Amino acid sequence: MIIQEHFPLKKHNTFHFDIYADYFSAPQNEEEIIEVLSNVRFKALPLFVLGAGSNVLFKSDFKGLVVKPNIQVINIIDENTHSIWVEAGAGVDWDSFVAWSVEKGYFGIENLSLIPGNVGASPVQNIGAYGVEIMDVITQVNGIYLDTLEPFSFKNRECKFSYRNSIFKNTLKGKTIITSVQFLLHKQGELKTDYRGVKEELEKLGEVNLSNVRKAVINIRESKLPDPEAAGNAGSFFKNPVVEKQIADKLLSAYPNAPYYKVDDQYTKIPAGWMIEQSGWKGKAMGNAAVHDKQALVLINKTGEANGNEILALAAEIQKSVKDKFGIDIEKEVNVV
Ligand code: EPU
Repeated sequence: MIIQEHFPLKKHNTFHFDIYADYFSAPQNEEEIIEVLSNVRFKALPLFVLGAGSNVLFKSDFKGLVVKPNIQVINIIDENTHSIWVEAGAGVDWDSFVAWSVEKGYFGIENLSLIPGNVGASPVQNIGAYGVEIMDVITQVNGIYLDTLEPFSFKNRECKFSYRNSIFKNTLKGKTIITSVQFLLHKQGELKTDYRGVKEELEKLGEVNLSNVRKAVINIRESKLPDPEAAGNAGSFFKNPVVEKQIADKLLSAYPNAPYYKVDDQYTKIPAGWMIEQSGWKGKAMGNAAVHDKQALVLINKTGEANGNEILALAAEIQKSVKDKFGIDIEKEVNVV
């Protein structure tokens, strides 16, 4: 088991901040995870479990141990004529898993194409896009408690999923390491093409089928979201706020063309990207940090020289503008460390 010292995290965070971890380890299986976590040398130090670093903002160097589970297996657990149960290791690249699934003809995660990150992090924030959330297809999440090093297996319901949220971000924040995730996929399925823009993109591609839904989602994402290699970013920086219907109605009477999603009879979700754009921030820079010019929900490391505090300073200004203009608080979606 290799543990590296003064390890550069530049390639392990998609903002590409030039920062270091005192110690870094990438265990390849459960035994190696337990080995590194039980090492007395690190017991007293802060510990951070890292995935692909695509939803994290490091404010500075990490004075402790970063563990990046690198379990790289995809196993079929069970199947029948209609369905298939698949387990993927925490270290599997999410989009490679989606590509694998689409190639095999398994339905369920095609709308989640091209989301950066690893399988192990996907349940933590219940990744979602284009009308699908990962909670729709997860059957079980397996991992290890960091304090006792005992294993756990949570069924879907026990993960307490909601919009960009789960038990792993709440009661169990910082207390577990996810080792693998089980999914229920289908051999025949209904394609979800209702999300704005998906149908239009599919029409350009011709036939409506599984692989074209993946292609359509990839095309839309590539047209709106910055490539982290070109400009460091962590996808949506804020969550879309869910507000009471009265607040949404007031906003919609002032801005009849505002986009919104009805959550239920009581709550409405308002796209934060729209509010940020309306507040004049789209494409604006502040020092080395900027608001992406095609999707205002994404903050970028514009010059490649930004640090976490510059991005956070920009985020705070944006939150203030949105609050002043709309009276609505927008919450960060990225994990600040
Ligand atoms: N909008 C604007 N200006 C902008 C951005 C958006 O007016 O600068 C408007 C759009 O025109 C649209 C609405 O806001 O009417 C929603 O925009 P979009 O479909 O691009 O999605 P989003 O709500 O901004 C969410 C997810 C994304 C996901 C997309 C597609 C969150 C926090 N973000 O963004 O997820 O890809 O929907 O489903 O829920 C991520 O989590 O990192 C992420 C990229």
